[in-house]
Amino acid sequence: MEIVIREDSDHVARTVADIIEGYVRRGPAVLGLATGSTPLASYKELIRRHREEGLSYSEAQAFLLDEYVGLPVEHPESYHSVIRREFTDHVDLDPSSIHSPGGAAPDLAAEAIRYDRSIASAGGVDVQILGIGTDGHVGFNEPMSSLSSRTRVKTLTEQTRQDNARFFDSLDDVPHHVLTQGLGTITDARHLLLIGLGEAKADAIAAAVEGPLAAACPASVLQLHPHVTVVVDEAAASRLKFADYYRHTLDNKPAWQAF
Ligand code: F6R
Repeated sequence: MEIVIREDSDHVARTVADIIEGYVRRGPAVLGLATGSTPLASYKELIRRHREEGLSYSEAQAFLLDEYVGLPVEHPESYHSVIRREFTDHVDLDPSSIHSPGGAAPDLAAEAIRYDRSIASAGGVDVQILGIGTDGHVGFNEPMSSLSSRTRVKTLTEQTRQDNARFFDSLDDVPHHVLTQGLGTITDARHLLLIGLGEAKADAIAAAVEGPLAAACPASVLQLHPHVTVVVDEAAASRLKFADYYRHTLDNKPAWQAF
């Protein structure tokens, strides 16, 4: 696991964009996209590179992590809508190459199986962007999720519903259920790119990176993965015990060694 501490969210966004750009320029890339507020600055930077530097996503495919259950796809806060509004509508990604779990599907168990199969038949995800919940969730794998779970329905904690109420008119409007890639599905991706921004994420980042491997902090499953990059701002890094070591490692990173 490589921990990259940047001074602010703009610098985090540039680092994340550098990593994604590397995959996109190397050939047809399968991108795993997160929604929520954390990756927004990174998506802005990736859009800028498309407009100003000719970065083309025409050969890429994208898979979303999760979707609210019961929201129609055209609802402005469905993740289907959010990813289009915040990122994919502004680049040349083919709309038929953007995939997400169908939270409005009549048979959610069958939809979950279909979604995992569609990721596998695309050859798996090359690089998966992740945010983290204040309770340590990735995707919407809430505490005590099986560390080897596949895509399925989960019930949101009240903490997550309250955290996400800012996107809705009221707390009552936040769905209770989601269809989310499981921790096993997420960790099948070949490279995991976890972003943490702000003081509110400092405890969750510390638990994920330095805490015990435990379902109580679902993001700690990243410790088992062979290729993880954690990109955080100073505030999100503020509870990391080994922060000085991570800075030292980065300062001495050999020029030949990519993220
Ligand atoms: C969203 C997702 C979630 C968010 C997490 C953090 O697709 O999978 O895990 O990344 O809830 O949300 P923000 O970024 O809004 O703080």
